Amino acid sequence: MDSTILIEAAHAASARSYAPYSNFRVGAALLTANGEIHTGCNVENASYGLSMCAERAAVFAMLANALDEDDRKVSSVAIVSPDAAPCLPCGACRQVLREFGCEEVLVEEGSGIRRYPFKELLPHAFGPEAL
Ligand code: THU
Repeated sequence: MDSTILIEAAHAASARSYAPYSNFRVGAALLTANGEIHTGCNVENASYGLSMCAERAAVFAMLANALDEDDRKVSSVAIVSPDAAPCLPCGACRQVLREFGCEEVLVEEGSGIRRYPFKELLPHAFGPEAL
């Protein structure tokens, strides 16, 4: 899969962001082991703490559409914001992406795409195999 396709899908999702409080729009597009793409955008709330990040929204969309185990495995995720680049995932989203085996994170940097091996972003992670 061409990484620009995933970045473009994340951009499309960021355009649907609901961020009237922070005005910080985020879009995420993840690729599953089965080659499906699922997207999410951040959704804020007047009760601020209820806001949801784009990456977790994409993971939830993946799960809601999963028919088998490979539909629940995240190969890579692209994260973009028209308001900041690079837009790296918050700690909570890193942990949730880790749960579903995310291997790589793609972000925009300068005029290009930077790929981070997931282990660089969340080393020594706690995961489902620990239980
Ligand atoms: N946000 C995300 O959607 N993903 C991140 O990884 C970082 C932060 C959102 C949450 C909130 O709606 C806005 O960006 C500002 O924090």
